[in-house]
Amino acid sequence: MSTHYIQKPLSPPVAAVAPAQPVTLHVNGQDHTLHIAPWTTLLDALREYLDLTGTKKGCDHGQCGACTVLVDGKRINSCLSLAVMQEGCEIQTIEGLGTEENLHPLQQAFIDHDAFQCGYCTPGQICSAQGLINEGRAKTTAEIRELMSGNLCRCGAYSNILTAVEEVIHAQNGTR
Ligand code: FES
Ligand code: FES
Repeated sequence: MSTHYIQKPLSPPVAAVAPAQPVTLHVNGQDHTLHIAPWTTLLDALREYLDLTGTKKGCDHGQCGACTVLVDGKRINSCLSLAVMQEGCEIQTIEGLGTEENLHPLQQAFIDHDAFQCGYCTPGQICSAQGLINEGRAKTTAEIRELMSGNLCRCGAYSNILTAVEEVIHAQNGTR
């Protein structure tokens, strides 16, 4: 005689839902308190909650540099950082670098040298270039090219981007 065991259905998995928590971000000189899930990236916090859409989402995996912003003067990929990790830091996005009436020297140089086509990578390129300037370690064309290599440009505007960044670095260093 055979015995049959009937397995009781497994209880449905309980989704782990963490409550939104308050996070205060200091962006472009202003404090903003957001109520967000703890896994919200800095990129999503900027774009989806603060409407700062100048910072672009390209790959969302740390591979293209489109989402580059400055945190305490250092360039980071905002898609790889959680917003909660940046509480208490100075966050600067492309919107905080210059104004329409008073462009940042890098913004002016990008215009002067036609250093973009579609413009999607441009905010990340400019923030990254400012981070590079802050690092103070790029002196030659080859070094600038290498240290900007984390910022991809699908339009292939690399030579003009390089010229623009080089011009600003040399102007600030008084080397040209
Ligand atoms: S969107 Fe962050 S590196 Fe591509
Ligand atoms: S200007 Fe189009 S991706 Fe760089």
